Amino acid sequence: MKKLLLIVAVLLTSNVFANSGGAHLEPAQTNIRSKASLQNGAKYFMNYCSGCHSLQYQRYNRMAKDLGLTKDEVKENLIFTDSKFPEHMTNTMDNAQVQEREWFHKAFPKDLTLIAKARGVDWLYNYLKGFYKDSSRPIGWNNTIFKGASMPNALWELQGIQEAKFEEHEDEHGIVTHTFKGFKKVTEGSMSEEEFDETVRDIVNFLDYTAEPARLIRMGMAPWVLFFLVIFTMLAYLLKKNYFKDVH
Ligand code: HEC
Repeated sequence: MKKLLLIVAVLLTSNVFANSGGAHLEPAQTNIRSKASLQNGAKYFMNYCSGCHSLQYQRYNRMAKDLGLTKDEVKENLIFTDSKFPEHMTNTMDNAQVQEREWFHKAFPKDLTLIAKARGVDWLYNYLKGFYKDSSRPIGWNNTIFKGASMPNALWELQGIQEAKFEEHEDEHGIVTHTFKGFKKVTEGSMSEEEFDETVRDIVNFLDYTAEPARLIRMGMAPWVLFFLVIFTMLAYLLKKNYFKDVH
């Protein structure tokens, strides 16, 4: 028994360390049950991200159903291409053209349907908040979480423009490292810091949803499964009592 407990403890702690990945990430604190947050996230994603990134494994009509939106609401506010309601959420930017013209210096915007599974919600939240002005980069932006990223800060009008402060350390071998010491706002955005955090949280929440749309259904079913298990346990207990009443 002791051995078993030890194994469980080791497994749990190793999992915690594996998830942290060494970086200090601010928790995204998303709530996939909040329809309002998912709807807002979809709105900002379609307006600020879908020009470059597709969600090719997700369909408009499925999103409408899961997020409680009508066909007309989606068609009027969220479809910016000539896509039809039942079609996949692909975008108009052609990756071959992007590469040929080297718009983003050899990088290209990937499909983001599953990105929340690959990177995790905390990483995405910190990435979208981590853009800063860096004149040494070809497009003028850099990112604290994804060094040398080729994506411009798509949300700069909302967030404003920030610079990053780094502290320089040199060890005894002359190797210089830079430690991130916080941001300094140089231009105000149209949103307050709290509003911006909330908007980014909603976008990340929406991406968490697209990575596994069935999770909404799965979580809705959970109370019923538990209810069934309780009733079934009671029935099984009564049955057992009945069968064993003559066994002494
Ligand atoms: C102007 C085009 C453009 C827009 C708009 C844009 N991106 Fe990007 N994005 C890129 C490019 C290019 C990359 C590739 C960066 C690289 O590999 O260095 C990228 C990379 C990313 C990545 C990292 C993917 C990885 O490699 O793991 C994420 C996440 C991301 N974008 C999310 C978003 C979100 C969310 C929005 C909307 C708020 C957005 N992007 C808007 C061009 C764009």
